[in-house]
Amino acid sequence: MAEVIEEKLSIHTQKVEKSRLPEVDFENLPFGRVFSDHMFIADYKDSKWSDLRIVPYNNISFSPAMSTLHYAQSIFEGLKAYKRTDGSVWLFRPEDNFKRMNISADRMCMPAIPREAFMDGLLELIRLDQGWVPGQEGSTLYVRPFMFAADDFIGVRPADTYKFMIFTCPVASYYSEPVRVRIETDYTRAARGGVGYAKTAGNYAASLYAARKAQQEGYHQVIWTDGAEHKYIEESGTMNLFFKIDGTLITASLGDSVLDGITRKSIIQLAKDFGQPVEERRISVAEIAQALKEGRVEEAFGAGTAAVVSSVKTIGHEGVDYDLPPMVEGTFAYKAKETLYKIRLGEAPDTHNWMVRVN
Ligand SMILES: Cc1ncc(COP(=O)(O)O)c(C=O)c1O
Repeated sequence: MAEVIEEKLSIHTQKVEKSRLPEVDFENLPFGRVFSDHMFIADYKDSKWSDLRIVPYNNISFSPAMSTLHYAQSIFEGLKAYKRTDGSVWLFRPEDNFKRMNISADRMCMPAIPREAFMDGLLELIRLDQGWVPGQEGSTLYVRPFMFAADDFIGVRPADTYKFMIFTCPVASYYSEPVRVRIETDYTRAARGGVGYAKTAGNYAASLYAARKAQQEGYHQVIWTDGAEHKYIEESGTMNLFFKIDGTLITASLGDSVLDGITRKSIIQLAKDFGQPVEERRISVAEIAQALKEGRVEEAFGAGTAAVVSSVKTIGHEGVDYDLPPMVEGTFAYKAKETLYKIRLGEAPDTHNWMVRVN
């Protein structure tokens, strides 16, 4: 019988000859347009991952028939690295992104990403580009791991070849102005039995039309409701949603149409730590509408990696706009945001071991 040899996947690094770092204006960083010196790549073919490498950030070329462009077998993650005052660099819950990426991969018939590619790739890449992690208050290094089908083939079936890549972008403090959102009861982001819980490209493409309509009506985003009846609240844009009603914090329970947000689960944990009653359950539109009419919605906010906690100032429903109190000191949202910020910067105890040191 042939002997099975477990290949150890190691990362080969090719450094840039000249860093672009001196050209970057860290005081004026546009979101998602400045890319660090290096990127990580791994190839999947013949049923295995190989050629793990860090190379200078550059364009990649592919065939016009590349399957991702046509059939959207494409998944991604998003997380941030933080620089502390002592110069150390830390990631927030990267293991959770690793797990979620493989949940997305499974749903999209894509191969699982090995730990050496995701976790080691992430750590080595950020270690190499640690000079790109901004030190300015509120600025961070946004990290984008993603995987896509790479077959040069037209035809609907799971591809045989894939690329897994990671690049990073220094980003300025994300000023999250309080958002105006409208409860969406016509369009659907994710259906029961669909792919809403996967972080897959098509979900974002599918969300654009309704979001654009809402923006034309003066809102920033929609609050998605369930695809079957539009009777239950799901999430909003790239955020999970929380409401505080009659003293209790509530958020929609997870299912196959809601993304299992890492900020969401951290906020639920913080609520428990603070002794704040919190419920994960089905939230009906009728319940929220009633509470809005009666002025019982004490707080509403979105939670996600980009904005962390984003206060909702207005909720539109059936042609009526309901204004909510601001996220000021003393609110749960304010305290949660502050606490997450301090844990990330090492200024509050990391009691749940969320932070992973990079350098
Ligand atoms: C659809 C959607 N919901 C929720 C979130 C929030 O998830 P996380 O807190 O892991 O960033 C995101 C962002 O990743 C998202 O794209």
